[in-house]
Amino acid sequence: MTIKLLAGTAICLMASVPAFAAEYRIAVGDGAGGTQEALGKAFVEALEKESGGEMTGKLFVNGQLGDEQDTVTAAATGTLDFSILAINNITPFSPSVGTLTLPYVILSQDDAEKVTQGEVGQQMVEQTIEDAGVRIIGWGYSGFRVLTNSKKPVSTVADLQGLVVRVPKNEIMIETYKSWGINPTPMAWGETFAALQQKVVDGQDNPYMTVNAMKFYEVQKYITDLRYIFSIEPLIVSEALFESLSEDEQQHVLAAGEAATQASAAFLREQESRIRDELVSRGMEITKPADDEKEFIELATTNVWPKFYDQIGGVEVLNGVLASLGRDPV
Ligand code: MLT
Repeated sequence: MTIKLLAGTAICLMASVPAFAAEYRIAVGDGAGGTQEALGKAFVEALEKESGGEMTGKLFVNGQLGDEQDTVTAAATGTLDFSILAINNITPFSPSVGTLTLPYVILSQDDAEKVTQGEVGQQMVEQTIEDAGVRIIGWGYSGFRVLTNSKKPVSTVADLQGLVVRVPKNEIMIETYKSWGINPTPMAWGETFAALQQKVVDGQDNPYMTVNAMKFYEVQKYITDLRYIFSIEPLIVSEALFESLSEDEQQHVLAAGEAATQASAAFLREQESRIRDELVSRGMEITKPADDEKEFIELATTNVWPKFYDQIGGVEVLNGVLASLGRDPV
């Protein structure tokens, strides 16, 4: 769904920017101001630079081009060019990516960067093309998914009981909450704000950056500083579109994706603690999980990991990720 765009004539004459540039549509699941938009802006800027102005992109934030999971299907069928979304919303289409949503596998931003930008990340790129018909060309980093709710401070697994928590339609996340003793409510991302507002659900989890970009502070009061999933937000391109590009154009897309990845890592490092403080100043209350999160960690790793070995392609896939992070195999 590329459109040809008439670039400003004066600029064309002065800087030899072509009169027509290919403008690609880029779906962004979250609202403006978050990690996803920052990744998208960095990508567009780099794409224009790499291609000498022949290629550009237009961001459509806040799920305007469809819910995150639907954008994967749209890109696979060639009706959408690019999408930026949380990795948990790609997992249903490419289960091996689920290794990155297994609870407590990625324990820091360094881990997230190491895994996605190394050999493991490259294998996931190839697997996702095969499974889902989309190519990951950039990685965004949003930070840990913290739990928010409107009812009470939660610091232990016992505190969680009785809360109705929305999760993405992602089996690993559903099973994680079950391991903590509650039955979560799977729901599309685009419906989440309204469900919180109308109190259909009490809470949800997402990174600080996303809680802020989505204005969840308007409908949520309490935050629990969980660290069970570090949210990785890939930039994907329709493989059909990618294959239709010339070799030079493909290189521009890949180089711009790489530049956007680096910009996203820097954005999170620079912005996360400021955003966290901003949420507090807007009235949110942050609670630390008791006992360094030990109970959450033990329940989730013991009960959830083994259930997904087959789906992610075998326990060796998880062990490959752990080895790349210098950790012991299971
Ligand atoms: C979700 O909770 O469905 C996603 O993590 C939302 C997002 O992309 O930020």
